[in-house]
Amino acid sequence: MKTLIAYSTKYGTTARCANLLKEKLTGEVTLLGISKSGKVDLSLFDCVIIGGPIYMGRLKKETKKFCDKNLDILVTRKIGLFVCHLEKEKSIVDIMATQFPHSLWQASVVANGFGGASLVSMMKGMDKFMFANVAKSTEDKEAIDYAHIEDFAKAIQA
Ligand SMILES: Cc1cc2nc3c(=O)[nH]c(=O)nc-3n(C[C@H](O)[C@H](O)[C@H](O)COP(=O)(O)O)c2cc1C
Repeated sequence: MKTLIAYSTKYGTTARCANLLKEKLTGEVTLLGISKSGKVDLSLFDCVIIGGPIYMGRLKKETKKFCDKNLDILVTRKIGLFVCHLEKEKSIVDIMATQFPHSLWQASVVANGFGGASLVSMMKGMDKFMFANVAKSTEDKEAIDYAHIEDFAKAIQA
């Protein structure tokens, strides 16, 4: 099976999760950083996994655009969706249903959150200010949900 993992990232955590997921998958797996990408022929892949981080309650716009632009072909592929985020109390079903196109979410074999990381030392300008205000924290923290990545890999390959 040929799989594409297409993701966007700002501080690298979603890229890291995409790499961790790749390591758990068998077959030919291609990683694609959406923001740096040109055109990709999605018909070459049996399975497409799409991920992005949540900022201020919204899926990063590159991932959102990628889904909207390619929706017609995406719904014909085997689809997996993931987000990186830190607000554990937010329902992942609500996030998936509101941040990805509804038909894509409904077509997905698996959709889940992989946790995230707050890399305050890397944050710049408004991000640092907003994060400090909302999270009341100035320390780097890693909260990647490795079990979710493992379960996601099993579900998409079942
Ligand atoms: C300014 C800012 C706003 C954020 N807003 C949210 C949010 O609304 N909900 C959430 O769950 N996480 C939020 N996060 C946490 C990010 O989703 C988390 O740090 C994620 O791992 C970032 O992934 P990236 O390194 O791939 O960009 C925010 C982080 C920053 C810096």
